[in-house]
Amino acid sequence: MFHACIAGTGRAVPGKVLTNADLTRLVDTSDEWIVTRTGIRERRQAADGEVLSDFCVEAARQALEAGNVSVKDVDAILVSTVSPDAPIPSMACIVQHKLGAKKAAAWDQNAGCAGWLYGLHIADGLIQSGKARNVLLIGGEFLTRYADYTDRATCVLFGDGAGATLLKATKSDRGVLASTIRCDGEGAAFISMPGGGSTHPPNRPETLEQRLPFIKMMGGETFKVAVRSMVDVCREVLQESGFETDEVSWLIPHQANDRIISAVGERLGIPKERCVVNIDRYGNTSAASIPIALDEFVREGRIKRGDLILFTAFGAGLTWGAGLVRW
Ligand code: ACO
Repeated sequence: MFHACIAGTGRAVPGKVLTNADLTRLVDTSDEWIVTRTGIRERRQAADGEVLSDFCVEAARQALEAGNVSVKDVDAILVSTVSPDAPIPSMACIVQHKLGAKKAAAWDQNAGCAGWLYGLHIADGLIQSGKARNVLLIGGEFLTRYADYTDRATCVLFGDGAGATLLKATKSDRGVLASTIRCDGEGAAFISMPGGGSTHPPNRPETLEQRLPFIKMMGGETFKVAVRSMVDVCREVLQESGFETDEVSWLIPHQANDRIISAVGERLGIPKERCVVNIDRYGNTSAASIPIALDEFVREGRIKRGDLILFTAFGAGLTWGAGLVRW
């Protein structure tokens, strides 16, 4: 039976760097607070006129080239995002057109910061069922466009960028060994953007007056449940595939907070040297954080054939998941 393997990766981030020093000019914060509480030193910010789909397309082209797959052979394009170019049409349709992937079905999914893991799980299922052979999975966000630069507790966290992964059908021992995705809608208020949808449409003045189309987060509460949930699903995929944590070559987690990454690694017994961290340079890019980190690590030549990679993420919804992949 076929399953999905990661055949290519790519990334594209805006050139503009927003440093912690820049943020001290906008809100009452300090480089010291941001670095010690989150690990973030700088993040990328899209300039006026830059469009997220262009970054998704650039990352996708790199992934196709790395995986040696022609755009005409792509069966499906999944874009995980909470900040698409526009509500209609979907980002994936825009990306499909810009790429010229005529044969591909295309759709978006909103699973917050866990979006890439939701996509991995779904793409593996499509490939296992024989409904697709080549799936482009893209995580892309322009979250700085929804950050509230009057709220120091959230605006320092987010950054912009896109990462792409080409998933290809294989019968080899490489690829997705196990994956799981979860949701608990009871925790919806932990991370939200209350305005901009049909409850508080963006075209009503009161939506903006009440500052509703901005990201809100209950940071402390989210922190605790994020660590616990990611550890649980990591253990689950390891158990399902019969591996122990000391066999994991690399943990590539969602980059929300360096302290969360350390806590997850510690509880699993994976030392920090085996945790991939780039939050210092990009901040939290939500659904883009794992594919960006993976692409950087791949292109630095850090991952060897046969390495066992554990992915995990947690985000708005609440949503979370884990995946174990043989490289
Ligand atoms: N600069 C200076 N002080 C600040 C800042 C800031 N930028 N932000 C908050 N503070 C202050 C607070 O006002 C508070 O002060 P007080 O004690 O006088 O009231 C103090 O610092 C501590 O605030 P906390 O919110 O308790 O800080 P905490 O250590 O929890 O860190 C953070 C906040 C970074 C948000 C952390 O809770 C976190 O990372 N949470 C999880 C994030 C996450 O995983 N999100 C999921 C994905 S996001 C998505 O899906 C879109």
